[in-house]
Amino acid sequence: MIRYYERQKTFWLRGKSYDYVMYVNGAGFLQNLHYGGRIDENDLGELIRRGDLLCPPQNVNGELALDAMPGEYGFFGRGDFREPTAVIERHDGASMSRFRYVSHEIRNGAPRLKGLPHARSADATLAVTLRDDFSPSEITLYYVVFDGSDALVRYAELKNAGSEPVRLKRAFSFCNELPSGDYKMLRLFGAWATECRVETTQIGRGVTRLQSLRGVSSYGLNPFAAIMRDGCTETQGECYGAQLVYSGNWAITAEKSFSGSVRVQGGVNDFGFSWELGAGETFVAPQAVLCYSGEGLGQLSREYADFIRERIMRPEFACSHRPLVANNWEATFFDFNAEKLLPIIDGAAELGADTFVLDDGWFGERNFDNAGLGDWVVNTEKLEGGLKTLIERCKKRGLKFGLWFEPEMVNEDSELFRAHPEWVIAKAGVEPVRGRNQLVLDLTRPEVVDYIFNSVSKILSENDIAYVKWDFNRDLTEFYSASIPANRQGEFAHRFILGSYNLMERLTSAFPEVFFEGCAGGGRRFDAGVLYYFPQIWTSDNTDGFERTRIQWGTSLCYPVSAMSCHVAACPNHQTGRTTPLNTRCVVASLGATGCELDCSKLTDGEKAEIKSHIKNYKQIEELVLRGDLYRLSNPFETNMFCEMLVSKDKTKAYVAGEVFLGGPFGGYANVLRLRGLSERKTYKIEELGIIASGRTLAVLGVPVPQLGDFGAWAWHITESEE
Ligand code: DGJ
Repeated sequence: MIRYYERQKTFWLRGKSYDYVMYVNGAGFLQNLHYGGRIDENDLGELIRRGDLLCPPQNVNGELALDAMPGEYGFFGRGDFREPTAVIERHDGASMSRFRYVSHEIRNGAPRLKGLPHARSADATLAVTLRDDFSPSEITLYYVVFDGSDALVRYAELKNAGSEPVRLKRAFSFCNELPSGDYKMLRLFGAWATECRVETTQIGRGVTRLQSLRGVSSYGLNPFAAIMRDGCTETQGECYGAQLVYSGNWAITAEKSFSGSVRVQGGVNDFGFSWELGAGETFVAPQAVLCYSGEGLGQLSREYADFIRERIMRPEFACSHRPLVANNWEATFFDFNAEKLLPIIDGAAELGADTFVLDDGWFGERNFDNAGLGDWVVNTEKLEGGLKTLIERCKKRGLKFGLWFEPEMVNEDSELFRAHPEWVIAKAGVEPVRGRNQLVLDLTRPEVVDYIFNSVSKILSENDIAYVKWDFNRDLTEFYSASIPANRQGEFAHRFILGSYNLMERLTSAFPEVFFEGCAGGGRRFDAGVLYYFPQIWTSDNTDGFERTRIQWGTSLCYPVSAMSCHVAACPNHQTGRTTPLNTRCVVASLGATGCELDCSKLTDGEKAEIKSHIKNYKQIEELVLRGDLYRLSNPFETNMFCEMLVSKDKTKAYVAGEVFLGGPFGGYANVLRLRGLSERKTYKIEELGIIASGRTLAVLGVPVPQLGDFGAWAWHITESEE
């Protein structure tokens, strides 16, 4: 709901449980009055009275009085000494600005952002236009609301309405002021094979900044932050989320002022950024999804999960059956031929998988990671008969066929590089940095995007391919393109990601029936921007049954479990060398879009039986993975037990899965898991334990934790009981 009170010049935005109120204050600034839990509309007068105290109108012109004003967009050089949301440098070099309200518009639905991923549908959008007092620059702030949701999408459009060019030196997407208080900031950090670790620290005075300068959203830090009010936990208290729908260099900052209020803002990273706006041109900053929860982090995560499934993912794939993949990567790495792959396909079919995915190594001279990238032509020496032989065998066994690509990359030892050495990101005379022996293609050049589109399209249209795994195995360096003028190199990083989005948009539109999975050496590019094109992402290269509990826990903070590819792999684990029971690997992999990452042709009968039963179990719970609500019961970062629970929206079914670690809790009634998310009034049966009890009892008394050895896991199926 969006309402405008004409007399008070107040905008009232309302979601499922939050209110967001702002007004045009006496000085003409757009000022926040409230963001948080539901309040009473009759108290608007009181809100305004408090707002006026923070920005007395008489003090504004010529006085340094803006530091305490909770502005909806921070500006620079006119008495607000906090970090601004935008910095616009004019042709004469001046960059002070002061934006005041000009007009607004309330529209139905959601705006479509050309070239950028965005919320696909919405109930209403408020667009408020502000104009600079000192230059012909305009900013339009967008607020997109969703009935029945606590997500609020924000973004901004900056316009040069003058006749001289201007340069944007910062153009964040949103500015959000939280009232004075003690807050903590939670972030997801990591590295290759240890994605999405959770760290929470107090927000002190000054600026706390999360960012990526890797050219991709990155596993260093995920483009997300949760700002938690003191006392907020998994199950209670207030918190705010800020998630960027963006996959390039980004920043989210939280600045605590002298008064204790916290200004949260973010968008495209301004470090190394600049953007030239010619007369009449506009710059659209990527969308950010803010979210409010009055019931702890768990509720915040559920809101984000619903939002991404319902508004970000391609609707035809969001909640429908996911390919149950058997992937050959960990089975063969680069060392395969048709003879080796055919039994793996047979084995995959026997296990109950429905898609076989041929990973890296099928093209060009690709026998290791130092050659072939960029040459999307089947290596028929390795694969006699081309892909057809494999696809035929898949069909015969009732499987679909999927294929790996890494479209944005190139090896120097490739036909593509030999033909077009100028197409890589590099600066003449400077040795480029290599990552995994590869260079990155310069996607700021439209001819490069066209070339990749055509060569990938050729393979997809000549073969019966149902699934694409789209990889991206290194970060960006150099940040330079010879095709961009010297004074506009600051546009490179953003233009690169616009090139990637363009490629993703074109390929997913040209092959709408193909299921695309994102990947970037695991979770290097796990973000809402990628999820707009690819409904699922390879969560991590770490397939270890213990490490996965932490990676999946962290990732679930702001992404749905269905966005995570979770495969059962062999032991000892290729990444950690650890051995965990097969059942444990299966249980953990059932808490996401499951599949297999092992040699299906070399399993013992016992292993086959266990994986078959895992796949059968998964089919039974897939609805919960796709549409259910996640309740995180036991935190693997804080305890020696991991446990998560999925509950159907109608609360008739649930699935609880967990694992105990070294020195884990011993069973018996001393250790219980209190179930959450069930209906207090319904009676449930826990299949495996024979327990029949009400949702209320299961929440209050809990259920005994099973007695298991190190890395032992369990899974319970819960249904509403008629008994
Ligand atoms: C990194 C991915 O994360 C792996 O799953 C695999 O596809 C390799 N790249 C292939 O090079």
